[in-house]
Amino acid sequence: MKSLLGTLYLWGLLIPGGLGYNRSLAQHRQEVVDKTVSARRSLETYSYNKYHTMEEIYWWMSQISEAYPEVVTQHFLGMTYEARSMYYLKISQPSNNPKKIIWMDCGIHAREWIAPAFCQWFVKEILQNYKDNSRISGFLRNLDFYVLPVLNIDGYIYTWTTDRLWRKSRSSHNNGTCFGSDLNRNFNVSWCSIGASRNCQDLTFCGTGPVSEPETKAVSSFVESKKDNILCFLTMHSYGQLILTPYGYTQNKSSNHEELIQVGQKAANALKAKYGTNYRVGSSADILYSTSGSSRDWARDIGIPFSFTFELRDNGTFGFILPETQVQPTCEETMEAVLSILDDVHAKYWPSSSTRKVSSVALVLSLLLPFTCLL
Ligand code: ARG
Ligand code: ZN
Repeated sequence: MKSLLGTLYLWGLLIPGGLGYNRSLAQHRQEVVDKTVSARRSLETYSYNKYHTMEEIYWWMSQISEAYPEVVTQHFLGMTYEARSMYYLKISQPSNNPKKIIWMDCGIHAREWIAPAFCQWFVKEILQNYKDNSRISGFLRNLDFYVLPVLNIDGYIYTWTTDRLWRKSRSSHNNGTCFGSDLNRNFNVSWCSIGASRNCQDLTFCGTGPVSEPETKAVSSFVESKKDNILCFLTMHSYGQLILTPYGYTQNKSSNHEELIQVGQKAANALKAKYGTNYRVGSSADILYSTSGSSRDWARDIGIPFSFTFELRDNGTFGFILPETQVQPTCEETMEAVLSILDDVHAKYWPSSSTRKVSSVALVLSLLLPFTCLL
């Protein structure tokens, strides 16, 4: 494709009348630059320290992908029950080597507003720092980020218009007598066996069957299609200040449980170092409650090695209605935790060049050691 364009371009230079083509190519380039510049300018006034309506988040997604076309692209994931489009942002640097994926979704529960705020913060931080910050540019050499800022869009809008404490989706059940499934009880893992309800009036209604909801289906089929390349699955909630590992549906532990706890505990320490906020780390069944059909457990059981649920601030003082003054500190400290997880995941699959250097020096020394007595 590239060489074809190059050939056309050369022809444009050589053949009479080719200048017209050149001008339109230059014009096109200029248009892209203009669009980028104006999108960056309009994003300058977007506040990451407040909660945004879905309309604003849609606008933000399109602006951010126009402002950073070289790293961010917006992709269609599926439709919600009320026929709204779900998009994820893909953050990716061109590279020749095969890359792995980090998945992050926010807002599967409608009222947990701090979660979508964090997804936006996360994207912003990556984009503002990937050029100068070696930690982030190091990640982007080997990792692509897939971020779904609001999973439960219908529910999120409903919390803005009608009921601030709505949790579920907005699908209609029993001839329109009750609404909404708990999307985090609807994944195809030990579906509706424990910590979920078959009564559509309940907060934890598991839906009419595994993956009965369009939102769950969209996420499941996408993640499933990429599962061999996804290293880490992060799903953001509030509240409770917890980093949860699999499982919720059983007291049994996943095969790499100890490692998940270690990585989670290190992340909690990094988070605490920022503002002193305390997080607890453990499996959902151990430290929160039993739940079946959660995305975290499902992701781990289809083979994604690292899978965590974050329960962000606070501990119940404000609960789901976390004041806007806490958006910034919450996002800052959570960013530290996520970066810590990324450090560990990245180091596990790409032992960094500095580590490799150290270990090769150690190797040479250890080979020479037996001969030092000859000196
Ligand atoms: N986001 C949580 C969930 O998925 C709610 C946790 C809030 N309750 C609590 N006691 N911390 O169900
Ligand atoms: Zn939740």
